[in-house]
Amino acid sequence: MIVYFTGTGNSKYVAKKLAKITKEETLNANRAVRKKESLSIEDDRLIFICPVYVSAPAIPFMDLIRRSSFKKGAKAYFIVTCGASKGCSPKYFRDLSEEMGIEYMGCEQVVMPQNYIVYFKMSDDQENRKIIKDADPSVKKIAESILKNEPFAETPMKTSEYVMTKMILGAYYKFFMTSKCFVATDKCVGCGKCEQDCPLGNVSIDNGHPVWGQECVHCMACINRCPKEAIEGGKKTVGKVRYHGPEVLLADL
Ligand SMILES: Cc1cc2nc3c(=O)[nH]c(=O)nc-3n(C[C@H](O)[C@H](O)[C@H](O)COP(=O)(O)O)c2cc1C
Ligand code: SF4
Ligand code: SF4
Repeated sequence: MIVYFTGTGNSKYVAKKLAKITKEETLNANRAVRKKESLSIEDDRLIFICPVYVSAPAIPFMDLIRRSSFKKGAKAYFIVTCGASKGCSPKYFRDLSEEMGIEYMGCEQVVMPQNYIVYFKMSDDQENRKIIKDADPSVKKIAESILKNEPFAETPMKTSEYVMTKMILGAYYKFFMTSKCFVATDKCVGCGKCEQDCPLGNVSIDNGHPVWGQECVHCMACINRCPKEAIEGGKKTVGKVRYHGPEVLLADL
């Protein structure tokens, strides 16, 4: 079973690609994350996929795994999608596997388009199409290890990066991952896509305009995927290219 959490669609894209090769079923965990539900999966093999947020796997996804139940000793593969690097994700997932009594089979990364529009430089559509295409060999390599039941190759991690991430992560989620920065401009047509796309159920449409609640994890789905590009996240996002996600970029071709 492939279980994935996604904001802008990169992790979903990787999950679907991987499913095609491995013939594993996929489960979109966004609803379970949103509703704070738990999963109960008795499979011998588990494949978890989520984005990297601040050098670590997305915390709401780790929380979902933590409150779920799995077959004791099931082999668990972890894959993170990222703009550049998986950071300390392997250490987080190794510790989580130990806690859950499942066998840690490693954590691989798939570099996909950067979606953190409120902080990073964004690539244009053409560059992003190339990044998505270039990700295919990594997905194939990951699938091969899984099909052979082999663990992923270990890569060294800088202890200093982990110490730093551990120190700032909680505060970063609390103080920076909020929806305070978001506003809808007069380009908004009230279509409701931002409401549908928010994996945390944090956006609702009121009087034809989006209103943001308190549950934001800065996944960047609402601001990037708005078809009218009507959402801004402060001055930094004005005039920046939006990343609409793999299905939009690839459908355009
Ligand atoms: C809040 C936030 C933090 C991020 N931090 C990192 C990071 O530390 N390293 C990195 O390489 N990419 C980082 N990214 C980029 C995402 O990991 C990347 O675009 C990912 O593929 C998005 O997956 P999704 O489309 O499934 O949501 C960050 C993105 C967001 C929204
Ligand atoms: S997706 Fe964009 S246009 Fe549609 S309601 Fe949200 S902000 Fe408005
Ligand atoms: S409000 Fe926007 S950025 Fe925050 S979790 Fe929802 S979709 Fe993601």
